[in-house]
Amino acid sequence: MTFQIAKTESDSKAELYVHLAEQLRRLLEGEHDLIANAANFAALLYHSLPAVNWSGFYLFKEGELVLGPFQGNPACVRIAIGKGVCGTAAELRQTVVVEDVHEFPDHIACDSASNSEIVVPLIKDKRLIVVLDLDSPSFGRFDDEDARGLNELAAIFVELSNEL
Ligand code: SME
Repeated sequence: MTFQIAKTESDSKAELYVHLAEQLRRLLEGEHDLIANAANFAALLYHSLPAVNWSGFYLFKEGELVLGPFQGNPACVRIAIGKGVCGTAAELRQTVVVEDVHEFPDHIACDSASNSEIVVPLIKDKRLIVVLDLDSPSFGRFDDEDARGLNELAAIFVELSNEL
């Protein structure tokens, strides 16, 4: 199988997420394995979104977050619920956008190049499944449009993937 990631640099953010939704559906079509789908989802985001230095998942396992498929530098493996940006998003069950990670009191620094971050918790049947985490070397890289777009992509991933 070959999958060509469409280059969409000239698009607006909204258009980019529309294209990504189409690409993600095609990429995950016919496969329901959560880890395989998370790996391809992380790779699609890493190679399609500008100014992103880490893209990946933490899986909710036995009451904590455990590193899952990702693209970027090696990262911390376990994060307690309520800790860091990932644990905070998991606890609140809400998307958390951090414009400057150095100002976030509980930020867990995995890559010194990261300056802003967004974390989207993925919920299925009221249960937390995974969190999606994106880091950027740019300050204020992520906004409401990214939060909306990534939540739409996350919904496609949840719809097409079986639980662990
Ligand atoms: N910065 C995250 C930890 C994960 S890495 O960014 C990959 C946090 O504070 O939860």
